[in-house]
Amino acid sequence: MTTNKTTEFENFIRGQDEAAWSRALDALLPSIHEVDRNATRIWFAFFPLALARALEQADDPDELARKLLLQGDYRLDAQIDASHRFLYGHRYWRETKAAVLARAAAFAFGADASLADEVRAVARPAAERARADESLLVGISAVALMTLAQVGQEKFAATPGEAKLGGRLARQSPAGILRERERDDSQGLLGFLRTTDRRWTVVWDENRDGARFKMVDRQEVASAAASDKRDYSQTDPRCTAGEGPIPVQCRSASCGTCWVGVVAGAEKLSPVEERERKLMPQLGYLDTDDPRPLIRLSCQARGAGAVTVAVPPWNGVFGKYLRRARRQGGATANAQAAGD
Ligand code: FES
Repeated sequence: MTTNKTTEFENFIRGQDEAAWSRALDALLPSIHEVDRNATRIWFAFFPLALARALEQADDPDELARKLLLQGDYRLDAQIDASHRFLYGHRYWRETKAAVLARAAAFAFGADASLADEVRAVARPAAERARADESLLVGISAVALMTLAQVGQEKFAATPGEAKLGGRLARQSPAGILRERERDDSQGLLGFLRTTDRRWTVVWDENRDGARFKMVDRQEVASAAASDKRDYSQTDPRCTAGEGPIPVQCRSASCGTCWVGVVAGAEKLSPVEERERKLMPQLGYLDTDDPRPLIRLSCQARGAGAVTVAVPPWNGVFGKYLRRARRQGGATANAQAAGD
């Protein structure tokens, strides 16, 4: 049942714009446990509010999705309980969801209400209920509130709220996971003699045993992924059987299909070069001067050490559209996009 308080809470959360979310995330990052600090930022890049709003406001969302070349599972409302599986805090999803709904039921709007404070007000009781350190639940709490902002409270409340964990790493402590992420492959007994034939492990899903492949030193991550000949097209139809777990099309920084989030080891990847830097804002994934950002095109990023990545469930080309939408307002931009 929807009460006035839950409506008030939903209005408050849904009323926050991109800038408010960005400020809140910046304020919260120091309180997020290191095991989830990058993963939280990556999740927010994987599910941009502006794109969700554009689809929500479009007269014909499917037509807009076609115009923006969206492929894969770009709809957050279809993966409310699963989109954040690459966060350590995913294991506390049930407690986090319950805390969000309890907060909504007790919400009292004050002029000084802040998004960051609301995230903390969810993380605190969720951590108590989970008997975990609060820092482990701040990231997933921010994810939960952004999910509510995008899908609405009714859909948010309707899912079972079950976390799906699997794999050896999922059973490790945060410190153990951080150690494992940091460790570079030993290269064997005479490893110090190796130069160009060194090999590094790329983990692409910490929740799944065997979700890893080897990357030759300085090889592009997407090329290395193609050495994994298992058929991933059943779990991600964007993948081509025999070409590995990262979807690719052009392999030349033109299509954006191969984007990944770098959960750990961004500093071990080659710096962003001109083509990737120019394309990222056009795609809409990222606009930064950081030479080694957390969002990369895996067909361009070359590895010099072990890295952990997360593969987004969708891809698209929406940067130009969103820039226009921000300048002109959603409805106008929708009309223009339909005529592009
Ligand atoms: S595969 Fe097209 S940009 Fe990487």
